[in-house]
Amino acid sequence: MDALIEAALSARRHAHAPFSKFQVGAAIADSEGRIHTGCNVENATYGLTICAERVAVFKAISEGAREFRRVVVAADTDNLTPPCGACRQILWEFCGDVELTLVNPRGKTETLRLRDLFPRPFDASFL
Ligand code: THU
Repeated sequence: MDALIEAALSARRHAHAPFSKFQVGAAIADSEGRIHTGCNVENATYGLTICAERVAVFKAISEGAREFRRVVVAADTDNLTPPCGACRQILWEFCGDVELTLVNPRGKTETLRLRDLFPRPFDASFL
């Protein structure tokens, strides 16, 4: 198993998901080979919950990373879990048409590009 997949599965174990019980991990590799991880962090008001992908992106940005090569999202579903709509927008903003691997703890994986999930993005090119 590659290091980025291991990092996403491992980050998932830190998920704070007492309300949904749905634990998600994410890992992002930057252009310098650094790995940035995130897990979902829920809140009793529900709406303030942040997904694993956004935690990973914002952690990476706050650490100075700016170019990203690959993203992995880990959840325990047989039908592999894709990023939600809000996370697709954030991933597009910072990672562009990045390679994205979905994975579960039983080793099932699927690799695609963000563009496949987010075909007509709104971004800064329209401003
Ligand atoms: N969640 C993520 O962290 N990432 C996804 O891609 C899908 C959903 C979280 C949000 C919430 O804590 C729980 O999963 C159920 O929606």
